[in-house]
Amino acid sequence: MTRHILLTGGCGFIGSNFVRFVLRERPGYRVTNLDALTYSGNPENLADIEADSALRDRYRFVKGDIRDADLVQKLMGECNALVHMAAESHVDRSILDARPFVETNVLGTQTLLDGIRRLKHAGKLAGDFRGVHVSTDEVYGSLPLDRPELKFTEETPICGNSPYAASKAASDLLVQAYHHTFGLPLCITRCSNNFGPYQFPEKVIPLFVTNLIEGRKVPLYGDGLNVRDWLHVEDHCEAVLTVLEKGVPGEVYNIGGNNERNNKELTHSILKAMGKPPEMIQPVTDRLGHDRRYAIDPRKLETKLGWRPTRSAWPQALEATVRWYVENPQWWQRVKSGAYRQYYEQQYGRR
Ligand SMILES: NC(=O)c1ccc[n+]([C@@H]2O[C@H](COP(=O)([O-])OP(=O)(O)OC[C@H]3O[C@@H](n4cnc5c(N)ncnc54)[C@H](O)[C@@H]3O)[C@@H](O)[C@H]2O)c1
Repeated sequence: MTRHILLTGGCGFIGSNFVRFVLRERPGYRVTNLDALTYSGNPENLADIEADSALRDRYRFVKGDIRDADLVQKLMGECNALVHMAAESHVDRSILDARPFVETNVLGTQTLLDGIRRLKHAGKLAGDFRGVHVSTDEVYGSLPLDRPELKFTEETPICGNSPYAASKAASDLLVQAYHHTFGLPLCITRCSNNFGPYQFPEKVIPLFVTNLIEGRKVPLYGDGLNVRDWLHVEDHCEAVLTVLEKGVPGEVYNIGGNNERNNKELTHSILKAMGKPPEMIQPVTDRLGHDRRYAIDPRKLETKLGWRPTRSAWPQALEATVRWYVENPQWWQRVKSGAYRQYYEQQYGRR
C-alpha cells in the first residue's frame, strides 16, 4: 500500500528526521509537511530535500497552523495518513508560560481531530486512512530512583507533572476520545528522550555540545541524577512508521531504547567525546518540579509489531551525534544567531 502522509510539525527535530526517513525507506510514499514555523520550526532542516528535483512529486511543504481548521481539512482530504508531531515541546518554556502549550498541544490537536471527523462524516476521508499521534513518556509522570525494576508500560496511569506533559496528556486523551466516540483509526506512541541531528540547541545534548564548541560551560541541573531513557531519533522515526503501518487503531505503543542514563553520566560522556575537562560543568538550580526518572517498557511494540532499536547503541550513537554538531557549525550557528528565521522569506518571499 502506498501512503500520502500529512505530517504536522515536519520542520522540527523529529519531524525533519521523519521526512528524510520516510522518503528514503518508502520510495512509494509522499509527505505533505504542515508546519507553522514557530521558533523551533526550521525549514533549513529540509533545504536539501526541497531542492532535490527527484523528490518534487514526493515532498511538499505547507506553511500553516494546525489550529487552522479549513487548511487542516483541505490537506487531510488530499492524504490517506496522518502523523501528528506538531507541538510546543520544551519543558522549561512550559514552566515560564504554559499558554502556547495549551493552545497548540490541546486546542491544535482537537482542531486537527475535528477536521478528520468532519471529513469522515462527509464521506471524504480516505477509506484506508490511518493516523499516529506522537506523544511522550513524560505523560506518565516520574519514577523513583531506588526502584530500578519499575518502568512505564502502556497501562501506567497518565500523570503529567510539567505543563508540557499535562498538555501532551490532554492531547492523548482527546485522541483516545475521538477514536472511541467517532471511530477515527488512530494510534498513540509514547517515546522517551530523543537524540540525533537537527535538534534545536535549547535541548540538553545540542546545547551542551554547542556551548563547549563556543568555549562556554554547560549548565547541569541540581544534583545531575535525574534519569532519562535515550533513543536515537531514527529509531523513533522507524517505530512511528511501524505503528502507522501495523498498529491496531485505538492502541497505545511505548517506544524506548532500554538506555537509561542520568544527566551527570550524559554530561561526562559528552565532555569525553569532545576532549573537554569536568571543570566545564556549571551546576545550576534545579528545574522546578523536575521529574526524577523516566524509563520505558517497550515490549508491546517489540513483541506485537516487531520493532527493535538498532541505532541507539551507547556511547557510539551519542558520539556520532556529537560529531554531527561539530561538523555542521553552519546549521546550529544560524539557529543560535536567529538567522534561520530569515530563510523562509528569502526562499519563498513574504506569505
Ligand atoms: N524531542 C523528544 O525527545 C521527544 C520525545 C518524545 C516525544 N516527542 C514529541 O515529538 C513531537 C516532535 O518533537 P520535537 O522534539 O521534534 O519538537 P520541535 O519543537 O523540534 O518541533 C515542533 C514542530 O512543530 C511545529 N509547530 C508548533 N506549533 C505548531 C502549530 N500550531 N501548527 C503547526 N506546526 C506547529 C514547530 O514549528 C516545529 O517545527 C512532539 O509532539 C513532542 O511532544 C519529542
